Amino acid sequence: MTVNPFVLVDDLAKTYGATAVFENLYFTIGKGEFVCLIGHSGCGKTTILNALAGLEEASDGVILVGGREISGPSLDRAVIFQSHALMPWMSVLDNVAFAVRSRWPDWDKAKRRAHALKFIELVGLGNAADKKPAQLSGGMKQRVGIARALSIEPKMLLMDEPFSALDALTRGTLQDEVLRICHQTAQTVFMITHDVDEAILLADKIILMTNGPGAVIAEIVVNTMPRDRNRADLHRHPHYYRIRNHLIEFLVDRSKQFDRSTFDPRKPKFTTPGLDTTTEEKQP
Ligand SMILES: Nc1ncnc2c1ncn2[C@@H]1O[C@H](COP(=O)(O)OP(=O)(O)O)[C@@H](O)[C@H]1O
Ligand SMILES: [Mg+2]
Repeated sequence: MTVNPFVLVDDLAKTYGATAVFENLYFTIGKGEFVCLIGHSGCGKTTILNALAGLEEASDGVILVGGREISGPSLDRAVIFQSHALMPWMSVLDNVAFAVRSRWPDWDKAKRRAHALKFIELVGLGNAADKKPAQLSGGMKQRVGIARALSIEPKMLLMDEPFSALDALTRGTLQDEVLRICHQTAQTVFMITHDVDEAILLADKIILMTNGPGAVIAEIVVNTMPRDRNRADLHRHPHYYRIRNHLIEFLVDRSKQFDRSTFDPRKPKFTTPGLDTTTEEKQP
């Protein structure tokens, strides 16, 4: 467990009628930590992210961010959605400057635009600042979404499968950029992904959810790879296949038949594939 966590999720549950989508969730996120959540479709990942964003209420439990209970959406927590959700009639610059204005309503136009441009350049779109969303590729639109989220200098980024609609090449480039930017700015991140390799590249820890209904956190996997990892030589590191196999085995088998007899939801098991000798190495 993280000491003095920035985010603390305590006994979170969501139920519809008599059915729990998930229950007894306890986890923490440290300041500057990158946490990924993996689980099969329908286990409640988006619901958890929405609860963290303050967009949806859980049925039970408490979420503290910076020691305070969440009570609705906040500019302290920026969300990057799967689809970019840009305003089509506005240029890239105006889309980002619009968000900047919501954060700092007192700033004059020149200051807003200069601030917005800084983040547009950070995501490599300096040359496209005057383009409209329709003139951009899918990857570029998603970059604008990232620039917009970062431009309000949130205390936390929430991402719901942000790259899943992109082709593999674009996805890879954006993963690299997000990793670079998040490390540079010591951003605290909670991200949902289906992609095991994406989680290994980006996350410091990976939360594994069992299948619903009644989904729980089965385990929290600590990424034992060095933090300065990059996509090009990830697979050369000896821990890589151990972590990868561990995650895939979970998704294929253990997510379905999780043994709850000795399970204590308040103390999710932390595993360190690659470091512990119990995790067998299996090359594909
Ligand atoms: N109004 C509703 N009534 C009953 N079940 C619902 C309702 N809305 C969502 N759910 C259930 O909540 C579950 C979690 O959804 P979601 O958080 O989107 O999962 P994920 O993002 O992991 O795919 C789904 O299994 C869905 O069936
Ligand atoms: Mg979802």
